[in-house]
Amino acid sequence: MLPARTLVGTLFLVAAVSSAAVPAATAEDECDLPEEMVREIRSYAPVADKIIRFVTEGKFKGRTWNKLAGFVDKFGSRIAGSQNLENAIDFMLNELRKEGLDNVHGEEVTIPHWVRGRESAKLLEPRMQTLPILGLGGSIATPKEGITAELLVVDSFDELHHHKEQAKGKIVVFNENYTTYGESVRYRDYAAVEAAKLGGVATLVRSVTGFSIASPHTGWQDYDTNVTQIPTASITIEDAQMLSRMFKRGEKLKVRLYMEAKTLPPAKSRNTVAEIKGKEKADEVVLVSGHLDSWDVGQGAMDDGGGAFVSWLSLAAIRKLDLRPRRTLRAVLWTAEEEGLVGAASYVEKHKSEEGKLNFVMESDEGTFTPQGLVFSGSKTAGCILKEVLKLTASINTTNFQLEKNVGSDITLWTSKGLPGASLMNANEKYFWFHHSAGDMMTVEEPRALDLCTALWAVSSYVVADLSFGIPRN
Ligand SMILES: *[C@@H]1O[C@H](CO)[C@@H](O)[C@H](O)[C@H]1NC(C)=O
Ligand SMILES: *[C@@H]1O[C@H](CO)[C@@H](O)[C@H](O)[C@H]1NC(C)=O
Ligand SMILES: *[C@@H]1O[C@H](CO)[C@@H](O)[C@H](O)[C@H]1NC(C)=O
Repeated sequence: MLPARTLVGTLFLVAAVSSAAVPAATAEDECDLPEEMVREIRSYAPVADKIIRFVTEGKFKGRTWNKLAGFVDKFGSRIAGSQNLENAIDFMLNELRKEGLDNVHGEEVTIPHWVRGRESAKLLEPRMQTLPILGLGGSIATPKEGITAELLVVDSFDELHHHKEQAKGKIVVFNENYTTYGESVRYRDYAAVEAAKLGGVATLVRSVTGFSIASPHTGWQDYDTNVTQIPTASITIEDAQMLSRMFKRGEKLKVRLYMEAKTLPPAKSRNTVAEIKGKEKADEVVLVSGHLDSWDVGQGAMDDGGGAFVSWLSLAAIRKLDLRPRRTLRAVLWTAEEEGLVGAASYVEKHKSEEGKLNFVMESDEGTFTPQGLVFSGSKTAGCILKEVLKLTASINTTNFQLEKNVGSDITLWTSKGLPGASLMNANEKYFWFHHSAGDMMTVEEPRALDLCTALWAVSSYVVADLSFGIPRN
């Protein structure tokens, strides 16, 4: 989830999802839907129960985990531009056809192609120590002989500016505290630009996570067109804190940084699409989604294999139950999310003329741990409808509802314009522990939680797609 600059500042709320408390109910929050609407939604109880039982106890039980494990073990990581990602997309197109879904196809997108190459960092003074690093997405390489320079270690951009006369010729280390992802990711994003403005020659940025077992966490970063580009990499929390302690004691620190990272010409990829065609209003669409691409470390099982798989397996479950809603249910598995919502931006652009027919958009890209409900953005009435739909999932405890100005990562391109949308609320307190690191492996995912996520996703998307009335817009 959450590529860097696209979201920072404008869409700050997203990262607060895991920690934000559900606001206390006020008169404002109370729903006053027409009785017939409520009655209609409640009439879906039998079909909702049928879906839930099928997915969590019936033939579908364990299927989301099994399919995801098979997929991530087969392909491993799937960074934009890699043959792995394209092979994974081909595989998925075939899977979706085998499920008997409608209109299965890929939609071509031009995407960035950044490759990491070999990389290393070594503390040379006051003593030798290897520092595990992960270059940040989009970074340039160091010269062939690497960059050997003294360190300036700061805790914040403010502190950098207090010491601005010291930055020239230094490798600037940022040891920012972790507060929320949305706030702390600014350092990953802007470190290289801010340091380069003051003459810094490279940056090492403390990984954006609240917990670490000596693991660097990568992520996209952007240069500023008017500022010299310098190599930039993440380091572990442990090393950032150690370097900061040493620096504060007045020790002279020297590091050799070596990176081969490069940006190749743009590559071709695809958004992967499958549908269950609506039986009455086939041109109206309820969309579920997650992204198939990942970082180039770990398996991308959590970010965002889980989200992509609960999305398409919701359609697969609905198909297996021989259900066909009034509107079309569409699963889109985005490409190149990590490089800045590239697949989604292309999709939104190409499908602009159909935007009026987009009834509701859903995305799971913040973990598929035990589900709790939906984080929603849209009008009050739309929210009330969704709250009522969620009550149909009371048997699996996923009736929580949280209103935000904006939700999701890829779907923010729509929800920021007022289209009603939702992302999966789940017990994702540990999400950023694994995020963009070698630890994003299948081990993080759990079969029961994935079944419950698929059940919630399938019930909510199916019911919304089948209601006699559409979800009203802002
Ligand atoms: C970071 O957190 C530590 C420990 O809570 C605190 O002492 C320090 O002032 C914080 N630094 C910044 C720049 O906020
Ligand atoms: C970069 O510099 C050009 C020319 O001075 C200016 O027009 C442009 O706005 C600058 N871009 C940024 C991102 O500051
Ligand atoms: C829902 O919550 C209740 C009460 O905590 C618990 O007994 C039940 O097992 C939960 N159901 C599921 C499906 O997790």
